Amino acid sequence: MKIACLAGDGIGPEIMAEARRVLDALALENVEIFEGDVGGTGYKKHGHPLPPETLEMCKAADAVLFGAVGDPDCDNLERHLRPEQAILGLRQALTLFANLRPATMFPGLEDMTALRPEVARTIDLLIVRELNGDVYFGEKAIRTLDDGRRQGFDLMSYAEDEVRRIAHVAFRAAQGRKKKLCSVDKANVLETSQLWRDVVIEVAAEYPDVALSHMYVDNAAMQLVRDPGQFDVVVTGNLFGDILSDQASMCVGSIGLLASASLGETQTEYGTKGLYEPIHGSAPDIAGQGKANPMAMILSLAMMLRHSFGLEGQAARIETAVSRTLADGIKGADLGGSASTVEVGDAVLARL
Ligand code: NAD
Ligand code: IPM
Ligand code: MN
Repeated sequence: MKIACLAGDGIGPEIMAEARRVLDALALENVEIFEGDVGGTGYKKHGHPLPPETLEMCKAADAVLFGAVGDPDCDNLERHLRPEQAILGLRQALTLFANLRPATMFPGLEDMTALRPEVARTIDLLIVRELNGDVYFGEKAIRTLDDGRRQGFDLMSYAEDEVRRIAHVAFRAAQGRKKKLCSVDKANVLETSQLWRDVVIEVAAEYPDVALSHMYVDNAAMQLVRDPGQFDVVVTGNLFGDILSDQASMCVGSIGLLASASLGETQTEYGTKGLYEPIHGSAPDIAGQGKANPMAMILSLAMMLRHSFGLEGQAARIETAVSRTLADGIKGADLGGSASTVEVGDAVLARL
């Protein structure tokens, strides 16, 4: 089982170290780890945020475990050299179009959710975010108009096959859960969203057992804090999914808790090839201080074992260890506690 580990920038290496300790503790046979530079680290060492050797390593791997990228020193570089291009480039190069971002309420976090506890307790949702299209990958530039004014633009578009393949992922996910799917768009204004909605409705014919609903993204943002328990699976485009998933994280207590899987259609001898990363970024404001919560990274490792290696039992073991750690009141600063990154890792390992 070839795993490419890309720690990246900021808190990336700190949280990756804890995930690696958890992986080591499982003592799986047949694991080969490869390490590569990405992000600002990749740029500083090799002149590119996604150095060719790192990309080749990821192509050859069965799964990629990704920390975080982003470095304020690099924010004024030309866009193609910025750290974020590493993750965008990998998603594109590996055709990882389906981003699964689960959010569930862990017992013991009732005081830390930004919602009232009785509202937060109902949260058990999965955001299925499209990851290869939308305004992220359209033509974009800052140009100067004939009259001398500068204009920025980013083309938003989805082709029907792109919508269809993510819709299938979402319907199948719903079949394995509570059989409810809410498609989030902005079809009242955007043509891109109208096509999205039309195609989702077409695909729905193949899933008569799933109850499909549609919601505008502004309402969805509101409903997510008003009554999050109404959602089972949410399917949405790249940009809306990015925003709604950060919002969902605070509904369950911290962005340091939310893991993700980015999947495509490549099957290896073990499972589906994928990239696994926390939904949060490199958190430069707390990097190097031992304050980062490693749980999102550790839970991403669990998702990797489940989706890319078919090791459901090991994945569940890790998730239970994280849940028990929280229930026992061991929390980092993001959750109002005082445990350091390593202490949280220690606590998860002890419960494993
Ligand atoms: P961020 O997610 O890095 O941080 C937002 C806030 O949440 C910060 O206050 C941070 O300290 C806190 N936070 C994030 N993760 C945490 C954790 N594990 N434990 C405790 N607190 C945590 O978002 P940002 O500040 O908007 O972006 C910082 C950099 O990260 C930027 O360069 C951005 O582009 C990049 N970014 C990268 C990814 C990725 O690698 N996939 C994702 C999001 C942002
Ligand atoms: C995420 C991040 C990325 C995104 C950035 C770093 C490119 O915010 O994974 O949520 O917008 O997809
Ligand atoms: Mn994001």
